Amino acid sequence: MCGIVGFAGAQPAAPILLDGLKKLEYRGYDSAGIAVQDGGLISVVKTRGVIKNLCDKTDNGSTLSGTSGIGHTRWATHGAPDDVNAHPHVSNDGMFAVVHNGIIENFAVLKDELEKKGYRFESQTDTEIVANLLDLYYKGDLLEAVMKTVSRLDGSYSLGVLCAEHPGKIVAVREKSPLILGVGVKENYFASDVTALVAHTRNVIYLDDGEVAVLTADSIDIYNASGKKIEKSTSRVIWDIEAAEKGGYEHFMLKEIMEQPRAILSTLEPRIKDGRIVLDDIPDSYFDGVQRIIITACGSAYYAGCVGRYVIEKLCRIPVTVELASELRYHDPIIDENTLLIVISQSGETADTIAALRECKERGAKSLAIVNVVGSTIARLADYRIYTWAGPEIAVATTKGYTTQVAVLGLFAVFAADKLGRITKERYAELIGELLKLPSKVQRAVDLNSHISYLAKRYASHRDVFFIGRNIDYAVALEGSLKLKEISYIFSEPYAAGELKHGPIALIEQDTLVITLCCYDELFEKTLSNIEQVKARGATVLAVAHEGNGKIFHVADDAVFVPDSEPLFAAVPEIIPLQLFAYYIAKENGCDIDKPKNLAKSVTVE
Ligand code: AGP
Repeated sequence: MCGIVGFAGAQPAAPILLDGLKKLEYRGYDSAGIAVQDGGLISVVKTRGVIKNLCDKTDNGSTLSGTSGIGHTRWATHGAPDDVNAHPHVSNDGMFAVVHNGIIENFAVLKDELEKKGYRFESQTDTEIVANLLDLYYKGDLLEAVMKTVSRLDGSYSLGVLCAEHPGKIVAVREKSPLILGVGVKENYFASDVTALVAHTRNVIYLDDGEVAVLTADSIDIYNASGKKIEKSTSRVIWDIEAAEKGGYEHFMLKEIMEQPRAILSTLEPRIKDGRIVLDDIPDSYFDGVQRIIITACGSAYYAGCVGRYVIEKLCRIPVTVELASELRYHDPIIDENTLLIVISQSGETADTIAALRECKERGAKSLAIVNVVGSTIARLADYRIYTWAGPEIAVATTKGYTTQVAVLGLFAVFAADKLGRITKERYAELIGELLKLPSKVQRAVDLNSHISYLAKRYASHRDVFFIGRNIDYAVALEGSLKLKEISYIFSEPYAAGELKHGPIALIEQDTLVITLCCYDELFEKTLSNIEQVKARGATVLAVAHEGNGKIFHVADDAVFVPDSEPLFAAVPEIIPLQLFAYYIAKENGCDIDKPKNLAKSVTVE
């Protein structure tokens, strides 16, 4: 979704802003713009379409002079994705330029009020009212104008502000939408995403809700919501710039698929010490009194939770429900202090997941976050957090984010089962051994790359695809289907194999492709019957099964074999061929794999 960058230093700002915006492209956007301050004048260039258009319009930034500025990539919410609605937005007299992520919920009331005072509006955005409110409240004191403006805004937003009368100064505001300050040497930055900062500095300050920061080349002053100056600590980002670049791969998605053995190793290995699981700072007493677990998340993170449910219930014998965050937040959930809420999020900034977490915390739930981005909102809101050390994930379709979440859920389930006294010492040791084997098993699944690329050529023309499975295989089918849909735009339906005959089997006809997940060995024979049923109606079956499962050849048209695993952890290697399949089908069909249409990496609006 939208991205913000800001720079104050001694070098020309425009090329740095353009470079920062390029790093944010992966988030999804439809227009972009920059504003640069020079000698009491603000110059703005913005355009519909890709950052390249902006680079062409400004000769890579060289046509704009000035050493402080702000930039934005916009994912349209209020108004069409055109040049006028693109950010930055400027106040009527040109005094202020503003970039904005999120939504100002009371913008219509404010717009009406400003129009009555004579302000005119060119765009349909909620952002333009912020620029004019700043102008209304500005009497020479920039911080005062920002504070007064912010006090009038409802909603979740982050802002970057430039004022013509304050050369060299940029202002950042955070309210329920991420904004991070980058601390450099004789230059400072802000950005909505750490990937826009790491090329310049790894020293960052995470702003909290309600905070305002005023940055110049030499100073960063931070104020709380009451306007009181506060001190905040600086953190060090461990990601390097290479991690956020393609490194020779054609797409980020393929690179990230290939990185999974390493990502899973980095996530699991440091938490297993001398044969014991050590989960960061979670105290032993944390599970005392827990009677039920709710897992909540969106999209693939929710599907990771669906795998987690089976594993946690099986090992801990505690009831687990998995709820979509966008539903949980609104259905008046029954929650108390005996409920443990597990929130899962790669970005840590998904609006619905944040809202569900807040809602459940208010009702007394304990909360544990499984999250990839350090210092993100969800990481900071939850009581405890387990980071997935997947590194930056740039492709919109998650791969290593998902598998590291599933791996952490397995780790957590074993840890909790032990704390609750639900598994023997022998089983505990056995499961730890199995977790440690996951990186090499995933490596063998990743090595199927060329075989899957060959299969994708064979199946690229199919337009209706079913994914079926039972138990954990069903949870994997959900994610496999989402991968195919989101990057190849092929309609696909995930279904619990046993449910097919209750309706959807009516859709099976000659050559319908049914991808069947067969790695949950306990239910293999049952799934085999489902394969027979769809085959009898003319379907083509592509099966994913464990190495050595010769039976599958008798029924399936094609099979992909992944390494045999402990059934509870089988989802991790099993999803890899489905990720590769979606990738190669999308490639065959000429799709924009890393930035699929209509999608954004981090869904920061409701
Ligand atoms: C998955 O490929 C999607 N891009 C999407 O479903 C994603 O998993 C979802 O939006 C949740 O994001 P989060 O993990 O950052 O919270």
